[in-house]
Amino acid sequence: MSKKIVIGNWKMNPLTLKEAEKLFAGTAGLIAGDKKVEVVVCPPFLYLEKLRKISKRISVGAQNGFFEDTGAFTGEVSLEMLYDIGARYVILGHSERRAMGETDMDVNKKVKSAIKASFTPVLCIGESARDENHEYLNFIRKELEACLAGISRNSVSKLIIAYEPIWAIGEGAHSATPEEFLEMSIFIKKILSDKFGVEAGGKIRIIYGGSADEKNAGEFLKIGKADGFLLGRASLNPKKFNKIIQIAGEI
Ligand code: PGA
Repeated sequence: MSKKIVIGNWKMNPLTLKEAEKLFAGTAGLIAGDKKVEVVVCPPFLYLEKLRKISKRISVGAQNGFFEDTGAFTGEVSLEMLYDIGARYVILGHSERRAMGETDMDVNKKVKSAIKASFTPVLCIGESARDENHEYLNFIRKELEACLAGISRNSVSKLIIAYEPIWAIGEGAHSATPEEFLEMSIFIKKILSDKFGVEAGGKIRIIYGGSADEKNAGEFLKIGKADGFLLGRASLNPKKFNKIIQIAGEI
């Protein structure tokens, strides 16, 4: 069985480098030294290099990355550059980026570039709403297939899929149920095994995100059989973040 993974997505927080260092060090200070659970924090780009040096226990990741290595792409930061400063994970296709115009085709190029640069890509997928006719399943299938188009089975050993229903993300939302996650993860696994074969497809970890916290984490792991979490708000609270890591280490 592969290791559980807990990934914190700090989004555009906190406001200053000083606060980021404090939050990161505070988080690192709470986490047990045993490496039962893989722990990753994805801060804003410009804090990455500094934070990476604070703790050996926590790996750092980026929240995005551009697919071309260098060139005339004003305002972009390439995956190769991020790897060079120590990022080893990258969140790709987060719904907040898709809401700003990122397409499946962009995400597909980014996943390919991340694999080429030796990252562990964390590909986010999720529907914006559910409907009685289960159209959302078709949406997920299409989204997943488009984001993974042209990727071969021998390059997906590190790939992680984060199922994050958009309706479950952020302030005021409620999480999916562990049963809903389980059903979706079986569906995703089937698509992955059809595409990459049972062996390679079966190794791809599927994690949950969207209002996951220390209260529902246990059930997502036990009932939902989640391989871990992508956490937004809970990752900004060292105690909550650590509690979720602890729970993942016990199940
Ligand atoms: P949330 O965000 O945990 O604050 O709902 C999750 C995410 O956007 O990755």
